[in-house]
Amino acid sequence: MSTISPPGFTQATVGKKVLMAITGISIVGFVVIHLIGNLQIFAGQEQLNTYAETLQSMGALKWGFRSVIALFFAVHIWKGTILWLENKKARPVSYAKENTLEASVASKTMIYTGITIFLFVCYHLAHFTLLLSDPSYHNLPLVDGRFDVYSMVILGFSEPIISAIYIAAIASMSLHLSHATSSFFQTLGLTNPTILQRLQIMSNLFALSIFIGYVSMPIAVLMNIITLTGGGH
Ligand code: HEM
Repeated sequence: MSTISPPGFTQATVGKKVLMAITGISIVGFVVIHLIGNLQIFAGQEQLNTYAETLQSMGALKWGFRSVIALFFAVHIWKGTILWLENKKARPVSYAKENTLEASVASKTMIYTGITIFLFVCYHLAHFTLLLSDPSYHNLPLVDGRFDVYSMVILGFSEPIISAIYIAAIASMSLHLSHATSSFFQTLGLTNPTILQRLQIMSNLFALSIFIGYVSMPIAVLMNIITLTGGGH
């Protein structure tokens, strides 16, 4: 009966963790695809704008995908918050010493990096999807009859403060990912310590690649490696 079981071991908690794992790994899939898509900025204006237009022209498919990813984000945040609150209630005084020895910085800061990602995604949608944070993007001249996503991204990252926000948020997301991907396998029931240790190393490398991939874009803009007039046509 759930009244006598510690909250950390109830079936409901296992269910929440499985939901967290499924939605989390799907969001990771999106993060990887989004990165590969955006890295086309290095191939130039024509390439990135064609890619963006292809996505925009997908109509119902695009909206279906957006709805699913928004639902996954919502479930992930909702269940994650409940789990965090349950853990806090079950363990009001943290095991200061044990935690420092056992848990990584990433695992102890999941709630904070998670909140940072949420705030970043809200800002990012207002910035590049809804064009609310800088309405002047609406006035960008069309290139080959298409909205110029390439110039919008470069104009955005030309502002050091905006690039700094992106880099900080991406660092936070990468820290979150370094724990999330390894804990995904633990939720699936993997308990072998040697394999788990290897998985942790792979998760760290994966998170580092995501970090390098995403920050390469604002950094390349700030260093004038990709410019409004340049970029591999
Ligand atoms: C250098 C980093 C990034 C760049 C250049 C970038 C670029 C873009 C652009 C141009 C759009 C608008 C697409 C459109 O409306 O046609 C977009 C949308 C979006 N981005 Fe990013 N992004 C970056 C990082 C991230 C990160 C780290 C996340 C984290 C999850 C993220 C999540 C999203 C989401 C959820 C959307 C909305 C997708 C949609 O409209 O269907 N982005 N991004």
